[in-house]
Amino acid sequence: MKNALVTGIAGQDGSYLAELLLEKGYNVYGIMRRKAVVDYGNVVHIKDKIHFIYADMTDVVSLINAMKISQADEVYNLAAQSFVTTSWEQPLATAQIDALGVANMLEAIRIVKPSCRFYQASTSEMFGLVQEIPQRETTPFYPRSPYGVAKVYGHWITKNYRESYGLFACSGILFNHESERRGKEFVTRKITDAVARIKQGVQDYIELGNMDSKRDWGHSKDYVYAMWLMLQQDKADDYVIATNETRTVREFLETAFAKVGISVEWTGFGVDEVGMDKETGKVIIKVNKKFFRPAEVDILLGNPEKAESVLGWKREISFDELVERMVKNDMELVKREIAYNNL
Ligand code: GDD
Repeated sequence: MKNALVTGIAGQDGSYLAELLLEKGYNVYGIMRRKAVVDYGNVVHIKDKIHFIYADMTDVVSLINAMKISQADEVYNLAAQSFVTTSWEQPLATAQIDALGVANMLEAIRIVKPSCRFYQASTSEMFGLVQEIPQRETTPFYPRSPYGVAKVYGHWITKNYRESYGLFACSGILFNHESERRGKEFVTRKITDAVARIKQGVQDYIELGNMDSKRDWGHSKDYVYAMWLMLQQDKADDYVIATNETRTVREFLETAFAKVGISVEWTGFGVDEVGMDKETGKVIIKVNKKFFRPAEVDILLGNPEKAESVLGWKREISFDELVERMVKNDMELVKREIAYNNL
């Protein structure tokens, strides 16, 4: 039986990965930060099958301890301050966790068990102001946020420990991946939650920022499988994981509203633009300046050819199915919330 240690286990990706590893017969260890109220997040349904270890990415001693307890054969580093907007408000905390935290984890592995394999959650945000379209493993980085800058360090330190110490360390450059378990601060879930509320009459409209930015959106469940595949190879390497399709936030909105039978009609420009329910004429989408970012990543489109040919990875869940699943899930959650509040 192999031991796996997952940082960020309670998050979206951590939960799908934990499910996969349990299915494959691993002993799963998960790092948790101490909080006043214990919060199992997305792994509450499998919490009894996971060995939790209290540790923090900014405290190397706690990570050394986590390595000693778990005797991990594979470490998946998914812990991060992952919301781009917050990285302008907390640039140094973001750097401590997303950049130096990676070095801390690599040091813990090197000191306790250098044969342990390591997966680093790198990101398409490293491409930022994109230098080529589509982006691939060889595309130069140009991060556009403190988050992206910190992640570039995490990426390079992973590569460096591979080259310096021969650690089996891989980076997955994952493009946006969403799911029913996505946090509501991210645009896709913010939209599907709002669509469900607007449809069921408990919200009037949604306010968004830049609706013209383009993202390459896949489903988290497909993407965690790629993480696992990377650590099963003979050779450690870095891979782009993406769908090779890009869509605007506006297209995501239109698709999500269409799932509940609402077609959107647009009128106005810039911050005055609104989206209306074509049938009723009611305004359901507004622009709010506060959701714009100091610097934007305009277009992300990833080429997953290397992952497909070397890892044999292929995404299973299409864009349409992704939106469908998220909207359906939120319709159900909102319905339950309404029923509960009416009691
Ligand atoms: N969150 C949010 N809220 N984004 C909005 C809004 C809004 O109200 N309005 C427009 N957007 C735009 C953002 O400006 C951005 O261009 C796009 O929607 C996507 O934003 P997010 O969903 O917050 O994701 P992200 O692309 O910034 O980052 C996600 O993907 C990265 C991979 O490329 C995160 O998961 C990162 O952790 C991840 O590394």
